[in-house]
Amino acid sequence: MNRKYLILNETLYAYACRNRSHAGDPLLAELQEETLRVTEEFSRMQISPEQGSFLRLLAAAIGAKSAIEVGTFTGYSSICIARGLAEGGRLLCLDSSAEWTDIARRYWNKAGIQDRIELRLGPAIPALEQLEEDLVFDLAFIDAEKTEYDAYFERILPRMRTNGLILFDNMLWGGRLGNPACDDETGMAIHALNQKLAQDPRIEAVLLPFADGIQLCRKR
Ligand SMILES: C[S@@+](CC[C@H](N)C(=O)[O-])C[C@H]1O[C@@H](n2cnc3c(N)ncnc32)[C@H](O)[C@@H]1O
Repeated sequence: MNRKYLILNETLYAYACRNRSHAGDPLLAELQEETLRVTEEFSRMQISPEQGSFLRLLAAAIGAKSAIEVGTFTGYSSICIARGLAEGGRLLCLDSSAEWTDIARRYWNKAGIQDRIELRLGPAIPALEQLEEDLVFDLAFIDAEKTEYDAYFERILPRMRTNGLILFDNMLWGGRLGNPACDDETGMAIHALNQKLAQDPRIEAVLLPFADGIQLCRKR
């Protein structure tokens, strides 16, 4: 069978990343630079710029008015999602770190989107269990503790509207998945979730092999 995909190298991936809307956004570039300087090795947790563009585009494409993010860090993905929301849209952010989300808050202000975003500090699972009864989401982005992804999913799915989108980051786990030798706890949790999502009749799922792998799920 003919291979129907490209094996990317640095040059080709960089080319793809350059040729998108909002490439080189100055505020996001500044946030990237500050995150690297302030959080040092933790800065690798930040999503990539092309993922940010993808989140923004998806939020806008589905006319999202209500979104949730689990794992905000210094705010990169939240800014992208919030910028894609429809007029009057709201993003609820969950994160356990006051230190990192203080940076996010500062950039929400700089971007002029602070009124669209609510941050709830603390562990995500109890926060999800305490959500107001009437909250429904059009879009969810999951990017916190990998071994808890399934727990986040089970708590968020009942709140998604039909055709709402749930995205999970790092679903190729640095390229370690698909290899039987990958036996670390986090990798196995992500693998189990990838398998579950593919079979789950409540959703439709595609594992997109860009950045570190994004599971894109549509609620049926
Ligand atoms: C990978 S980073 C998120 C990156 C972010 N989406 C961005 O674009 O920069 C993961 C974040 O999840 C938070 N986190 C980790 N475990 C958590 C938990 N159990 N509950 C809430 N937040 C958690 C961390 O504080 C960290 O800020």
